[in-house]
Amino acid sequence: MGGDKMSDGNGFNVDALVEPDRVHRNCYADNEVFEREIRQIFHKAWIYVGHESQVPNTGDYATTVIGRQPVIMVRHQNRSIHVLYNRCPHRGAKLCANRAGNTGGNFTCSYHAWQFKLDGKVRHIPIQSGYDNTRFNLNDPNSHMKPVARMEVYRGFVFASLSPTGPSLVDWLGTAIAGIDDMCDRAPEGEVEVVPTCFRMIQKSNWKIFLENQLDAVHPSVTHGSTGLAAQKVEKEMLAETGNPPPLSYHYISAFAMEMDKWGALDVVGHPNGHCVLQGYMGLRPTDPDTLEYDAIMEKHYGPDRAKEILDVNIHHLLVYPCLSIQSPLQQLRAVRPISANETLTEIWHFRLKGAPEPIYRRALDYFYLVNSPSTMINADDLYNFRKCQEGLESEGGDWVSFHRNAGQDLVEDGVATSVIGFSEIPMRNQFEAWRNYMQAEGAL
Ligand code: FES
Ligand SMILES: [Fe+2]
Repeated sequence: MGGDKMSDGNGFNVDALVEPDRVHRNCYADNEVFEREIRQIFHKAWIYVGHESQVPNTGDYATTVIGRQPVIMVRHQNRSIHVLYNRCPHRGAKLCANRAGNTGGNFTCSYHAWQFKLDGKVRHIPIQSGYDNTRFNLNDPNSHMKPVARMEVYRGFVFASLSPTGPSLVDWLGTAIAGIDDMCDRAPEGEVEVVPTCFRMIQKSNWKIFLENQLDAVHPSVTHGSTGLAAQKVEKEMLAETGNPPPLSYHYISAFAMEMDKWGALDVVGHPNGHCVLQGYMGLRPTDPDTLEYDAIMEKHYGPDRAKEILDVNIHHLLVYPCLSIQSPLQQLRAVRPISANETLTEIWHFRLKGAPEPIYRRALDYFYLVNSPSTMINADDLYNFRKCQEGLESEGGDWVSFHRNAGQDLVEDGVATSVIGFSEIPMRNQFEAWRNYMQAEGAL
C-alpha cells in the first residue's frame, strides 16, 4: 500500500482512505486494499450465491465464488439446499469443476473416488482398511466437505456468509429487503424462478465503480444521451407511420434521454449496511392488453387493494452492498464477484414471475437484452467509463475521488438517508460508510 500514510502501525488506516465526502484513489487501485476487502468484506458479509430455482432437482448444483472461496450450492434429497466449499477433504481437489450440473445422489471425487452425501458428509472411502490404525477419523469434521459458516434463503435467494457470527440475513438487509420483496410480490404466485443461464462479463475496473454507477442519476443523460435520443427519434417515426405507440422496449432506451430535471427529482435512498435504492422513472405500467391481463391475474391472486399496492411500488434499482444490483420491476439482477483491484466479474441474471403471462416475461427479457447484456449500446458505454475511471485512478494525476455533491444535505431518519435531490452522491457516501465499517472491523462480524 502507498507508504506510511495508509498505515496506522496495524497495517491499515481507514481514516487515510475515507473521508465523509471524498475517498482516496487507493480504495480502487491498491492491491493490498483489495486483499483486505476480500478478507474483511467478501469473506464476512452476506454474499449472494444464487437462486434456489437454479437447483430444482436432487443432486442439481451450481458453483460460484464467495470472495476467493469456491463454493457449491446443491439440492439435497430432503429438498434442503446446502452451500459447501468446493474442495475434497482427501487431497483437496475441487469436487465440481463445472458451473452447473447434476451430481446424482452423491459427490464423487474424480481423483480417488471419495464419496460424499449431498450435505457434504463423507459416505464412502475406497480401500478404507488402509485407514485402520491411523489417526484418520471418519467423525472428524476434516473428513467431510466443509459447509459455509452460515447460509440463509430469503424468498428463494440464497446467501452465504463465511463469518460464523453477525446479523441474520433479514436483519442485515433491513429496510432494503423491500427490493427483493418487490421482485417476488410482482409474481402472481409470489415467487420468481431463474432463467437458466446468465451472461458473465469481466469488467476491467474495480468492483465498487460498478456499484457506484448503478444509482448515479447524473450519468444517464450524459453517458447514454446519444443512444436515448436516437431511440426517441425512432419512436417518433414509428408513431407517425403507424399511429400506435411503439413497444415498451423502445422506451427502455429512449428513457435514458429524459431531461436532467427529471433525474434530479428522483429519490435516492441510503439504507444501513451500504444498501441503496433508486426510485423508478420509466413508468412501467402501460395499459396495453398484455399488461391489463397481467393486472387482472394479480388482482385475482392478491385482491384489488393488495395488487395495487404491489404494482405501485416504484423502485428502479436496489443495491445490496457489496454483492448485488437488483432491478426488481424488471426481474433481473447482477451479481458482483471481484477478481482483482482492477477486474470484476459480473453475472447478469434474469427471472420469470411465476404465474404471470408469457408477454410479461418477454417484455422484461427485452430489457435484459437491450440494457443489461454485455453488448448493448447502454452497457458498452458504461463499461467504457468504468475502464477509463480505473485507468485514471491508477495514475498519479490526483489522489482523491469526489463525493461532495449535496454532502451533508441528505435527510436522515432512523438510519435511512434520503437524497435532497436525485443528483446527490448519497449512494456513494453510503456505500463507503459501510466499507469503512467492514474494513476496520476486528475479527468476525
Ligand atoms: S482428492 Fe478427492 S478423492 Fe483424493
Ligand atoms: Fe449507465
